[in-house]
Amino acid sequence: MKLFDVYPINDINITHAKGSKVWDENQNEYLDMYGGHAVISIGHTHPHWVHNIESQLKKIAFYSNSIKIPIQEELAHKLGAVTGKKNYQLFLCNSGAEANENALKLASFHTGRKKIIAFSKAFHGRTSLAVAATDNPSIIAPVNQTDNIVFLPFNDADALELYFKNHGNEIAAVIVEGIQGVGGINVAENSFLLTIRKNCDQYGAVYVADSVQCGYGRSGKFFSHDFAGVEADIYSMAKGMGNGFPIGGIIISPKLKAKHGMLGTTFGGNHLACAAALAVLEVIEKEHLMHNATKVGEFLAASLKSIEAISAVRGRGLMIGFDVPEKLKNLKKDLLFKYKIFTGEAKPNVMRLLPSLAITMEEAALFIQQLKHAIEHYQD
Ligand SMILES: Cc1ncc(COP(=O)(O)O)c(C=O)c1O
Repeated sequence: MKLFDVYPINDINITHAKGSKVWDENQNEYLDMYGGHAVISIGHTHPHWVHNIESQLKKIAFYSNSIKIPIQEELAHKLGAVTGKKNYQLFLCNSGAEANENALKLASFHTGRKKIIAFSKAFHGRTSLAVAATDNPSIIAPVNQTDNIVFLPFNDADALELYFKNHGNEIAAVIVEGIQGVGGINVAENSFLLTIRKNCDQYGAVYVADSVQCGYGRSGKFFSHDFAGVEADIYSMAKGMGNGFPIGGIIISPKLKAKHGMLGTTFGGNHLACAAALAVLEVIEKEHLMHNATKVGEFLAASLKSIEAISAVRGRGLMIGFDVPEKLKNLKKDLLFKYKIFTGEAKPNVMRLLPSLAITMEEAALFIQQLKHAIEHYQD
């Protein structure tokens, strides 16, 4: 049997990893400025994470949600403490798309309404509602097409106000990334998020903060929406939550009430995933990784701004993007194959940096040095 060929693959086989370094089968060392697509939060194979998973595995890996699973409660307690949202409620699932799917479904149950506002360049995942709310027609199958999603321009508070004025009573939810990831690292303005909050309150809609990529401390605060001082009704999370162990979830404001059977999943919240997620939160706290994200992120952003050949350096913490001109269009590939550095991209010309929150200043400095070398190669 062959693999279903949906991914453009780099011809590299990574066989082991530690912190922000990964090695291929020929023992070549790479610097990981991509974090496996923003997933590696506390660093590859962190010893505390490995230990927690290993010891849980020896006890029990999985049982269904038909029994008490105290480690879910432990995780909810810890998340409440780290986010400061102690009165929110946790629902666990397995991925970012699923988290958004459940968030939107819950908003619709809660309001009894069908319409959802999403924004230009948004990416929310590939399940049916999540992909319908994603601004990329090429990944929306005919069966996913629906009139229930309305796209408005990102960061345009006036357009949002106007839409609510005319259709406010039909809106179940507004879903927004605090920093758009796949869309090219576009930071939501504080005033825009405040306008979303105000209109959701006024018209009884649910504010869903998609924090799958920009959450979990990556921005330097636990949720990037925290910069605006707004509280969302639902935060969706995945990626950094398990440091590579598949887990997703939503945290839900107390004003949304649970009913037996309204949401559900077989694998979500299994013992092993919770053990991984607990280890992640413990390490984020113990090693002050949000502070590190701010510190190293500021260094990276300032260093990038001093490089003339690139432009529009943007982002927060360790979620950074910049534009590269046409003549540097092979930069990402060169960094990978010549300089052994993984980075991310957003089409057509954005480079994305999404390293582990535990990346050191030395590693960040090495990246900047190598990036400058790579760019010099293109100078006339
Ligand atoms: C903002 C955002 N939401 C949702 C998703 C979907 O997450 P997953 O791939 O885990 O389903 C992604 C993935 O890149 C994302 O960046």
